[in-house]
Amino acid sequence: MQKVKILGVGGSPRKNGNTTKMVLKALEGAGSVPGVETELYEMGGKKIGFCISCYKCLEKGYCVLKDDFHEFVPKYMEADGVLWGAPVYHTSIPASMKALLDRLGNMSLLHYLGRGKMVPRFNKVCGVLTGGATRYGGQEITLTALIHSCLLMNGIVVSGDNITGCYIGAAAWTGGGDNPLGKDNNDPEGMLCAQNVGTRVAEMTRIVKAGLTALAEELPGEYSYAWEQPNDT
Ligand SMILES: Cc1cc2nc3c(=O)[nH]c(=O)nc-3n(C[C@H](O)[C@H](O)[C@H](O)COP(=O)(O)O)c2cc1C
Repeated sequence: MQKVKILGVGGSPRKNGNTTKMVLKALEGAGSVPGVETELYEMGGKKIGFCISCYKCLEKGYCVLKDDFHEFVPKYMEADGVLWGAPVYHTSIPASMKALLDRLGNMSLLHYLGRGKMVPRFNKVCGVLTGGATRYGGQEITLTALIHSCLLMNGIVVSGDNITGCYIGAAAWTGGGDNPLGKDNNDPEGMLCAQNVGTRVAEMTRIVKAGLTALAEELPGEYSYAWEQPNDT
């Protein structure tokens, strides 16, 4: 059986918080699909600085800032599917996650352009997840920001099934009652949705990979790519 890898990104600066739990639920859904290997990458505790627009990535093929970004990149490049989870911060994704995405987006495009190659169609199947402490606290904006990121990096975005409330991804309301700040409190609907998104992403990842394999000789070269991680990062 053909194997696929699904990477779940827990984009909160807080380790093992609501976002990580949602991503783990999504990975549980993904892992229930045969042939699927899953991995969690938590941003909590990592040092990932922001892009300083030096454009060295165009010249060198990789980002010259020395930090934890470089442990993330090969995991991302090897993944066939990615589940992006972010907490709502100020009605969008946290600054730390934006820093990761800015650098990943620019570097993954300029790595190839700087070598006179077409930017690959990375074909990563993506799903998006979020949780916010207020009921209408910016969950849709946060999901939309993540979707735009996936599209920008040539991703194929899928949601869960509408019947579980998954319209464009999984959204949780983590606050309410005696927990207005939304600590350690994911709502059951959001978690069900997360699991559903994970399952759909895994199924679609298998379909896309099988299609790419079957059509390998007919498709333009941009549908396949190799990533070489520089050893001085
Ligand atoms: C700096 C900051 C900004 C936040 N802004 C929002 C917001 O705009 N809307 C919202 O609903 N919740 C907001 N929250 C609450 C978090 O989204 C919520 O507690 C979330 O579940 C935290 O996830 P975590 O446990 O993975 O960190 C904010 C929290 C912090 C720390």
